[in-house]
Amino acid sequence: MMFAAIRCALFVVAVVGSPTPPPNAHSDMGRTQHILLNSRSNAANFSKVFDPSTVWEQLGFVSRKYSTTMGAYQRNTGSPHPLSSRFDFHSVAKRNGNVSLVNYNADLWYGEIEVGTPPKTFTVVFDTGSSDLFLPSTECSVSCAGHTQYDPAASSSAKDSGQPFVLTYGAGETAGDEYVDDVFVGGYEAKDQTVGAAWIYSPEFSKDGSFPPDGLSGLAFSEISEFEGSPLFQTLDESGKLPQSVFGFKLSTTPGDSEMVIGGTNTDLYHSDTLTYVAVTDRGYWQVEMDVISRLGQEVVESQAATVIIDTGTTFIITSYSIAQSYYANISGATAHTEGADTYWTIPCDTINSTVPTFTFGRRAFKVSAQTYNLGPDVLSSDCLAGIAASSEMDFTIIGDVFLQNVYSVFDYANTRVGFAELV
Ligand SMILES: *[C@@H]1O[C@H](CO)[C@@H](O)[C@H](O)[C@H]1NC(C)=O
Ligand SMILES: *[C@@H]1O[C@H](CO)[C@@H](O)[C@H](O)[C@H]1NC(C)=O
Ligand SMILES: *[C@@H]1O[C@H](CO)[C@@H](O)[C@H](O)[C@H]1NC(C)=O
Ligand SMILES: *[C@@H]1O[C@H](CO)[C@@H](O)[C@H](O)[C@H]1NC(C)=O
Repeated sequence: MMFAAIRCALFVVAVVGSPTPPPNAHSDMGRTQHILLNSRSNAANFSKVFDPSTVWEQLGFVSRKYSTTMGAYQRNTGSPHPLSSRFDFHSVAKRNGNVSLVNYNADLWYGEIEVGTPPKTFTVVFDTGSSDLFLPSTECSVSCAGHTQYDPAASSSAKDSGQPFVLTYGAGETAGDEYVDDVFVGGYEAKDQTVGAAWIYSPEFSKDGSFPPDGLSGLAFSEISEFEGSPLFQTLDESGKLPQSVFGFKLSTTPGDSEMVIGGTNTDLYHSDTLTYVAVTDRGYWQVEMDVISRLGQEVVESQAATVIIDTGTTFIITSYSIAQSYYANISGATAHTEGADTYWTIPCDTINSTVPTFTFGRRAFKVSAQTYNLGPDVLSSDCLAGIAASSEMDFTIIGDVFLQNVYSVFDYANTRVGFAELV
């Protein structure tokens, strides 16, 4: 979660991918069924009325209605509905680990999780660069306006950990109280997952501050958890239910084209023979060694291995100032723009597309496309913004979405390694 804001400030891209509107057919249900039971003439149109997709849809409405109303019972009476233990709140959830992701502004990707008993749906950024899960709580007023809010009192599985927290990200800050509760993602359960219930959101996390999802779920290792708890994927893994101790990402700005798979990878989306693994060198971040950065077939940055962190929650590729400077040194018209510790580069729009980088991991070269590297015209200079930025505070590299949109990425938890493969 860094640098997402810088880009928004520079230019505006059309918002792609909007959540599907909620179904509104609750009220029609009883009436349709009533007519069917009473009219013989309708029996002649039996097959038409019982279009299977309509039936599936209606059954889905029923289970959602019971899920919602049992939640209301819990909230209104303070105890779970007696039948709630006999209702499988997740029967409609997909159980293949598939979580579809929505892209906002080419800056961030988010998908759904369910939290509590009965479960409530929230949207979160799945961030491989951090390890904690936070949501806005019902205690959070103005700064959380518009977000779905987590109410521990309405969940029979929520337990107060009695522990306050403060989390600081590149793009914002949040504080609140830790709870443990049951979390579902892709149909899998993370029991007693530590959840930060935030009562403060900094403006960067507000709904109108370019943060459409409700919260964030870190998918890195427990070693970097502020909560000192088990991060979501570790909890899922320890349930013993996942087919494989792995998750995979495809990130795209095309609506409907981004997904995360929990417990495996989607082999339809990548060329298996190109899947190349690199070992995590230090458990904490998804931290690996990169061989070399090249351009037009030539090494542009010293071929010694560079330490990089694979971070789905960061938009840019962010590297040290010296690596970025050698990258841009030979590009005519490349201009550095520095503020404090941070620098970004612009390049004339008619030539920037021919300056794309290639990153080599495990001896396989993965090219970054002009589409993800060229971030469009900079309003100040009318040149185009390039996807590699620098921080003078960091002597390592963060590989964000500018690169990750070009590959299928595999986070192999059991073998502590990251894999990249070429997309189909
Ligand atoms: C069956 O449905 C069709 C198309 O909606 C309608 O024209 C027809 O009158 C219906 N038949 C009966 C027996 O209700
Ligand atoms: C994942 O879910 C999306 C949206 O529900 C669907 O389009 C896609 O086919 C699913 N993929 C798999 C592998 O099930
Ligand atoms: C960059 O410039 C140096 C010296 O000016 C040259 O040796 C090198 O080949 C150039 N690299 C590229 C990628 O153009
Ligand atoms: C550069 O690439 C982008 C994205 O693929 C494209 O929209 C744009 O037209 C290209 N610009 C030039 C000058 O070729």
